[in-house]
Amino acid sequence: MAKEKGIKELTDLPGIGPTTAEKLKELGYDNIEKIATAVPHELSDLVNLSVENAKKAIDAARQATTLEYDTGSAIYDKRKELGKIHTGSKELDELLGGGVETGAITEAYGKFASGKTQIGFQLSVNAQLPKSEGGLEGTVLFIDTEGTFRPERIESLAKHAGLDPAKALENIFVVRAHNSDQQLLAAERADKLIREKNVKLIVVDSLMALFRAEYMGRGSLNERQQKLNQHIHKLQQLADTYGLAVYITNQVMDNPGILFGDPTTPVGGNIVAHAATTRLYMRKSKEEKRIVKLVDSPNMPEGEAVIKITPNGIAG
Ligand code: GTP
Ligand code: MG
Repeated sequence: MAKEKGIKELTDLPGIGPTTAEKLKELGYDNIEKIATAVPHELSDLVNLSVENAKKAIDAARQATTLEYDTGSAIYDKRKELGKIHTGSKELDELLGGGVETGAITEAYGKFASGKTQIGFQLSVNAQLPKSEGGLEGTVLFIDTEGTFRPERIESLAKHAGLDPAKALENIFVVRAHNSDQQLLAAERADKLIREKNVKLIVVDSLMALFRAEYMGRGSLNERQQKLNQHIHKLQQLADTYGLAVYITNQVMDNPGILFGDPTTPVGGNIVAHAATTRLYMRKSKEEKRIVKLVDSPNMPEGEAVIKITPNGIAG
């Protein structure tokens, strides 16, 4: 992308001094294009910049970037190459346009026992399947922040999927993160593992638990959001670079601002909302049934799927 009007560096943008520019670079906004595609609230949440000034900087960055064009058919061809991982539920796969997409972040949020982790387990097994069976013939990096990874459950799911359970477990690389720094590092240092072991799925279960616990009651929500942003940018970069799928689970809170309707809102604010390509809201229904709502997707209509959590894994 060519630059115009002499805007080449972040510091050439209005309102961005050297300190802010440095901070932005650390957070992954290391060029004008990244600023051009940011949203004002996001930047304002991260660095010491008013929403108004963030808007001005973004506008200037947009004007300074010229676009390279891809034809629609070229993009279509590229997208057809992108793999998808089956979820185990036909209904949910259809809702997602074929399964969980690679090159993108898919987020599942919902209350406890809504099935977020179970989907993570099922994807960890299915990612290993042959492509003809809805897999990617790859391995899995599982970042466990809550200590809820269960090898026994993986064994059952693998058996049912026709995989050798012992091999299926060998193909899942679990990092148990005890604090947010370990969580960040697990992604920062993943490149080598991904290349050497053909990782095709990264699971982060859950994204926010450690961040929430560590920053509870502390004044510096700003600091938390910066760190979180860095983490998410890294995950997005891994998805792009290696064409792998990222599945994150997220907790919820009741948004007091919503007076009518369901106040359940995912935590993490704008940073997470903006980064997740596809968002799924999971709710408990009768017995083993769960309702999965597609809340945000770039190419699929909103809708709901009913899945089942069975002894053999996700079905329905
Ligand atoms: P939190 O992490 O607590 O927020 O919940 P979650 O959304 O991750 O829930 P999870 O995916 O752990 O789902 C828990 C539910 O899955 C349980 O209430 C069970 O209904 C079901 N489940 C978990 N393990 C098994 C199992 O081994 N067999 C069967 N049949 N169901 C299971
Ligand atoms: Mg869970």
